This record gives sequence, C-alpha cells and structure tokens, in this order.
Amino acid sequence: MSEAAATPPFERLGGEAGVRALVDRFYDLMDLEPAYAGLRALHPAELEGSRDKLFWFLCGWLGGPNHYIERFGHPRLRARHLPYAIGIAERDQWLACMIQAMQELGVDPALAQRLAESFFGTADWMRNKGG
Ligand code: HEM
Repeated sequence: MSEAAATPPFERLGGEAGVRALVDRFYDLMDLEPAYAGLRALHPAELEGSRDKLFWFLCGWLGGPNHYIERFGHPRLRARHLPYAIGIAERDQWLACMIQAMQELGVDPALAQRLAESFFGTADWMRNKGG
C-alpha cells in the first residue's frame, strides 16, 4: 500500500480542522444551493446542532477520534434517520452536496472519489421510502 493510501482519511483531510471545514461547507451549501433545497427542508431551521453531530460522527468514521460515540454511544444511523423520509432524491442530494463540498475544499480527487463511494454506501443504506 502506498503511504497515502495507508494514512487515514481523517489525517489526509487535515485532522479536526479539515473535517470541521468540510462539514461547515457541506451545510453552507445546503443552505445556499437551490439544488439541495429538498435536503435542507428535512433539517431544523438552526443547523448548529446538525453541524456538530456530523463533525463528531465523521471524525470517527474517517479514522480519527470517536467523538460521536463518546457522547451518544452507537450511532444507529439508520434508526436515527427513520423520522426523515429518505428516498433516491434525498440520497442523491446529500451525496452531491458532500461531493461539491469536497471539491470546493480542494480534497485530493483520488481521496474524494474513494470517500464518495463510501458515502454512497452509507447514504443508500439510509433509504427508508420508495422513490
Ligand atoms: C441519505 C441522505 C441523508 C439525509 C436526507 C439526511 C438527513 C439528516 C437529518 C434531517 C438529520 C437531523 C439533523 C438534526 O437533528 O439536526 C440527520 C442527522 C444526522 N445525519 Fe444524516 N442524512 C443523510 C445521510 C447521512 C449520511 C450518509 C451520514 C453519514 C455519513 C449522515 C450522518 C448523520 C448524523 C451523524 C446525524 C446526527 C444523528 C443524531 O445524533 O441525531 N447522514 N441527517
């Protein structure tokens, strides 16, 4: 394995500051871009709590510190998303928003591609309605 491939994505993204910047851009885009309005509408008016939770979760998911689990225990992500109707359109908006955030932050394209595939698996597993 090359050195880059052996380094956890958390480190390659720049540690906590890099992950926080990615999450902040993700939610800023969700607020700004009409293409993500459907996704935005599922979220609370105030996004501060959402930003913190996704930041804590992604730190661990990307191979860094387990902030989310330390605070909330097992993520049970699919169960936690059941209150929101998630189909293909919602999944695809989430992924497009995250891919745009990675691009805008200048994440290495090979890493962004690998992460996009992993995000797809998680987002697809969250679907809980047809269509
Ligand atoms: C598939 C499309 C998705 C939609 C529509 C969606 C939507 C949402 C919404 C509406 C919330 C509640 C926000 C809040 O309470 O402030 C949420 C929470 C959360 N989402 Fe997603 N999400 C999706 C995919 C994902 C993916 C792929 C991940 C992780 C890679 C993720 C991670 C989280 C986390 C960690 C929380 C906080 C859970 C909690 O502790 O309450 N979501 N999501």
